[in-house]
Amino acid sequence: MRSATLILAELALILFTLTFTRAYNNGVGRAPPMGWNSWNLFACDINEQLIIETIDAMDSKLKKFGYQYVNIDDCWSLKSNRDPVTNEMIPDPVRFPRGIKFLADYAHSKGLKLGIYSDVGDKTCQGYPGSANHYEIDAKTFAKWEVDYLKLDWCFVDDAIKAEPWKYYGRMSARIKQYWSSHLLLNLQLVGLGVSKPHEWAPKIANSWRTTGDINSSWKSVLEILDLNKPLWKYSGPYAFNDPDMLEVEVDRPPNKLTIDESRTHFTLWCMLNSPLLLGNDIRRLDDQDRKWAKDIITNEEVIAVSQDPFVKQAQLLYETKVGTFNQSGACTSSNCTWIEVWMKPLQKTQTIAVAVYNRAGLNIKDPKFKAESANIIWKSLGLEEDLKLSVRDLWAHSDKGSFQKEYTTDKIAPHDVRLYSMSGSGWNRK
Ligand SMILES: *[C@@H]1O[C@H](CO)[C@@H](O)[C@H](O)[C@H]1NC(C)=O
Ligand SMILES: *[C@@H]1O[C@H](CO)[C@@H](O)[C@H](O)[C@H]1NC(C)=O
Ligand SMILES: *[C@@H]1O[C@H](CO)[C@@H](O)[C@H](O)[C@H]1NC(C)=O
Repeated sequence: MRSATLILAELALILFTLTFTRAYNNGVGRAPPMGWNSWNLFACDINEQLIIETIDAMDSKLKKFGYQYVNIDDCWSLKSNRDPVTNEMIPDPVRFPRGIKFLADYAHSKGLKLGIYSDVGDKTCQGYPGSANHYEIDAKTFAKWEVDYLKLDWCFVDDAIKAEPWKYYGRMSARIKQYWSSHLLLNLQLVGLGVSKPHEWAPKIANSWRTTGDINSSWKSVLEILDLNKPLWKYSGPYAFNDPDMLEVEVDRPPNKLTIDESRTHFTLWCMLNSPLLLGNDIRRLDDQDRKWAKDIITNEEVIAVSQDPFVKQAQLLYETKVGTFNQSGACTSSNCTWIEVWMKPLQKTQTIAVAVYNRAGLNIKDPKFKAESANIIWKSLGLEEDLKLSVRDLWAHSDKGSFQKEYTTDKIAPHDVRLYSMSGSGWNRK
């Protein structure tokens, strides 16, 4: 009991700190933003019609589950130049003939929000005009267009920006506060933890910040990013999120594609990580029969509730069960192996936690050295008293499992699959 109380008191303190002294609280986005972004599937192949259809699809299929943002990524502006008179960025007149304000108005008319993209350096990653030396005019322009989200990338940055990224991102952030103070979520893209430890300074100037390199739709990429985010839980809280990058559920971009189980695991863990939940798939086709599995994953309300929980805490890896011998790339070198991870996220409702268990297994899902495994969730390892009675609910299956003491044994979890439980009881207190 004491360890549980300690952990929870510590969490409460961190929550307090983040809320009142660190987070860039501009009144929107207390919980992680939910929406869609054009990059993962469409890259530069974007236009007004795609965005309108995506807004319509979000309105009819996903809004009721909490998805709100339709975010346009790179390649939306005129590549060659800014407006020679005003110095504003110009929406590509062929692909976005009615401009960005038109799309923002359209999104707002449906009760949704529109996001836009720029770069803290000279050019965007695809070579379009960046915001360097134009922070003031760009913040004004985005305010005029009434966009709701800005992803500010990290390409073509000069040595000065590289040396003090917080200064340059901070300038743009200040301009945004000045012109568009209370409506815009700011997301910083900083590639590579080693470069500048964005989590140490970004919470003061942005709502979310990339913590790793780019995700792709491979299991290896999901695991790599997950591992890098493990130690960062304490930097996440209301209005301030580590960004392990956008979702790859049903994003078919050869040579990679996550399996259904891997997609479910990826989605679960991103909910646990307090990550922005930005879909990357073609949501216009979400009702196609062969994509029903993806809709089932991204619209599971009990799982989404873990992401959107008002306590707004990032999960921690509590323990792993790793049996057998492994080489450096995680391959099993004995006759068989087990590798299971147990993650815990405290929830707002007192005495309730979310527990995710996934079968990490080997990188290759068909590796015969790994099997479907059941796992023991042990109260002591969660920091709880053994005699505590906890009711366990399976949030993917929508079923109550009953009330347990000391431990709960899961059913068999296939390699790369996951279970997500809410566990609640009485007898332990959170300060
Ligand atoms: C995807 O990411 C993994 C992990 O970083 C990397 O090894 C792989 O080369 C990437 N694949 C593609 C197609 O970018
Ligand atoms: C680990 O083992 C796998 C499978 O045998 C192999 O492909 C990989 O190169 C090994 N990695 C290292 C670092 O030895
Ligand atoms: C798994 O490996 C261990 C030793 O590494 C061995 O004792 C056990 O019999 C193996 N189990 C199976 C099912 O192969």
